[in-house]
Amino acid sequence: MVLSIYGIQRDEGTWQDAEVFRPSRFLDSWPRYGFIPFGLGRHICIGSRFSILESMLILACGRQRFRFAQADQEEVNPEVGVTLLPDRAIRLQLEPLA
Ligand code: HEM
Repeated sequence: MVLSIYGIQRDEGTWQDAEVFRPSRFLDSWPRYGFIPFGLGRHICIGSRFSILESMLILACGRQRFRFAQADQEEVNPEVGVTLLPDRAIRLQLEPLA
């Protein structure tokens, strides 16, 4: 059986304005089964803690020093794999912050 993590995380019955990117919604308590990027249960991802730490480090260190911008104007669409991926490599331009 395969559950759609994408569908679960955009369920209007669980999330208000489900399609809106609003990270602040996680500042308060949020529905335990409404956000499951690493799966759940016995087969929950063993790399979850590592991945969260890694992304926080990249965001904290990278964003303090650079402004990130998409290097081209080409559209990027989501592609479904085990996780959600971009359908092509995304070229970024890094501009050092003063
Ligand atoms: C942002 C990064 C990652 C995401 C979103 C992610 C997501 C997932 C998801 C959705 C599953 C399936 C869970 C299930 O079947 O219920 C999974 C399983 C797994 N992940 Fe990850 N993962 C990430 C990074 C990693 C990393 C860095 C590692 C290794 C160091 C890893 C190792 C595994 C393994 C071994 C499983 C299979 C666990 C099992 O079946 O018992 N993942 N991951």
